[in-house]
Amino acid sequence: MVEKASLAVIGSCGFRVGFRPGELELGFTIAQPYWGRRYATEAAACLRVGFERLGATQILSLTMPENARARRLLQRLGFHLRGVERHDGIDGCVYELPRARSRSNAG
Ligand SMILES: CC(C)(COP(=O)(O)OP(=O)(O)OC[C@H]1O[C@@H](n2cnc3c(N)ncnc32)[C@H](O)[C@@H]1OP(=O)(O)O)[C@@H](O)C(=O)NCCC(=O)NCCS
Repeated sequence: MVEKASLAVIGSCGFRVGFRPGELELGFTIAQPYWGRRYATEAAACLRVGFERLGATQILSLTMPENARARRLLQRLGFHLRGVERHDGIDGCVYELPRARSRSNAG
């Protein structure tokens, strides 16, 4: 991700293959000086690409239980907590957004 005004590289946002068929995993990282400017919220427009162009039936996102900022972001985007799951030896909160409940589905 690049900030339009300064052309500074500020972070990344993208998909990788999820755990179940039809799932994509969405990940965000914004450099700390740029937090709180709604850049992650803006980047979440890529959810539409995941559902409409990549054909995902569900998009999930993982975060650590103590990462309140990321958890609020995901909830604000419409994700629901699926539960705490252990992946690669680490317990993380798994949030999911099924296509049927996504804003891109609502148009
Ligand atoms: C989690 C993370 C991606 C959030 O990025 P961000 O760009 O700061 O997120 P946003 O700005 O879209 O939203 C964050 C908060 O700022 C608030 N905010 C942003 N711009 C605002 C503005 N102009 N006025 C008022 N509030 C604003 C949002 O409402 C939100 O508030 P809340 O956390 O109290 O609900 C970022 O903190 C990060 O990269 N963390 C490290 C990596 C990580 O945890 N990734 C997530 C795991 S996938």
